[in-house]
Amino acid sequence: MPGKKDDSLFLGLDVGTSGVKAILVSPAGAVAAAATVPLSLDTPCPGWAEQDPEAWWDASTAAIRRVLEQGPAARVAAVGISGQMHSSVFLDRTGAVIRPALLWCDGRTTAECREIVERAGGEAQLREWVCNAALEGFTLPKVLWLRNHEPAAFARLATVLLAKDFIRLRLTGTVATEPSDASGTLMFDPARRRWSRDMLDAVELPLSLLPEVGESAAVLGRVTEQGGALTGLAPGTPVVGGGADNACGAAGVGAISPGEAVSSWGTSGTVLAPTAEPRVDPGLRAHTFCHVAPGVWYVMGVVLSAGGAFAWYRDQVARDLAHSDQPEAHLIEEAAGVPPGAEGVTFLPYLQGERTPHRDASLRAAFVGLSLAHSRAHLTRAVLEGVCFALRDCVTILRELGLAPGSLLLTGGGARSAFIRRLQADIFGLPVTTVNREEGPAYGAALLAAVGVGAFPDLRAAVQCTLTRAPLADADPAAHRDYQRIYERFRDCYAAAVPPRS
Ligand code: XUL
Repeated sequence: MPGKKDDSLFLGLDVGTSGVKAILVSPAGAVAAAATVPLSLDTPCPGWAEQDPEAWWDASTAAIRRVLEQGPAARVAAVGISGQMHSSVFLDRTGAVIRPALLWCDGRTTAECREIVERAGGEAQLREWVCNAALEGFTLPKVLWLRNHEPAAFARLATVLLAKDFIRLRLTGTVATEPSDASGTLMFDPARRRWSRDMLDAVELPLSLLPEVGESAAVLGRVTEQGGALTGLAPGTPVVGGGADNACGAAGVGAISPGEAVSSWGTSGTVLAPTAEPRVDPGLRAHTFCHVAPGVWYVMGVVLSAGGAFAWYRDQVARDLAHSDQPEAHLIEEAAGVPPGAEGVTFLPYLQGERTPHRDASLRAAFVGLSLAHSRAHLTRAVLEGVCFALRDCVTILRELGLAPGSLLLTGGGARSAFIRRLQADIFGLPVTTVNREEGPAYGAALLAAVGVGAFPDLRAAVQCTLTRAPLADADPAAHRDYQRIYERFRDCYAAAVPPRS
């Protein structure tokens, strides 16, 4: 540990959708303290999703203060921040928030996506300039939505930031981002790792709206007096670039090299495979973004409602469990008593539309095949299986791109439940494993902080020194055969998710 006292700690912060998590990590990789502060989501109309950036800041300061009660601020050698991708923070000239952020799962910008493709001169241009399709959840369509629908707010717009970069601004006073999060704006060229002038010119937006781009593991700012007063961190503490939650989540389980693949079950679900060069899906059904390790990219399929679908289901259908300690565990136990395929019930998890593979924000969720014989246990099993089938769609695309993983690292809620781990192995037909750390993106962010102040020579060394993998759990071939049939049923039900014309 060159130059670092052994009692140093690295603070990892993840600005998620359901909450902000802060952790303190020791140089040996142990988690010395953890705190999560919950967040709620506003849905002013079906398909919309907003959060107030000020609520992210309040939750971040509270989470940081709470972990610092368990590990003294003087020992924090550096901070790394990760956060939900794409969500648009609109700031005026003074740095004040203009309106609530439109989130990664907000589907209101279909017309703006069309406008982007038209202005660019076709989807082929988008592939060339920004490696990705114009999808409602990305940041650029949200900026155009502001211009088209709230011109007075747009007239005040001076800076567009992402969630974690807004927290950086509040902590350090620095306006900056890094390639993994910039990749999800549709204004950044992941292949050349710089803002796309072509894209900005096509949509007539100035580069001055966007922050400088530093490296994920580089120190991009230091905690100010004011940031320190609100969080308890020592002024001057270095804050590294950090990264997008999916990239930090992958780093947090050690998936930073080609050949690896991660299935993450957060509010969204993602299946991500690192690549040595920017690989673009010809159908643009999956995303191509920069990883937090320099010289590494990844291809990722995104299921908009994974843990989010299960949380919605829990809140709406299992209110009787609201006061139970572990309502999800209770529901999962019920579901485990029902056979695979939930005796004919299928759930399509498209509560907020879907990105991969359908690219359709107008899709909606559905239960199909209900009868009087079915109970809540069947519905729960169908929800859990439906999310895994949607993730399976992402695995299929990786296979089509020649990125077939030999096994999958699991992270997030789906990694913590033995039942959901088994479901994933059997539905994907792949061996699965987990690592000895469950903190996901916050852990990856803490590792980047440690690299940024020289505690490790690079991210690869940090991963090697801190993470160990559990033995692989193989898929059960007979269960996989059964699930193949049920997966086909899931695919056949797709029409039920398409909204009627009137
Ligand atoms: C990725 C995406 C989500 C968010 C969740 O493209 O939109 O996974 O990053 O926080």
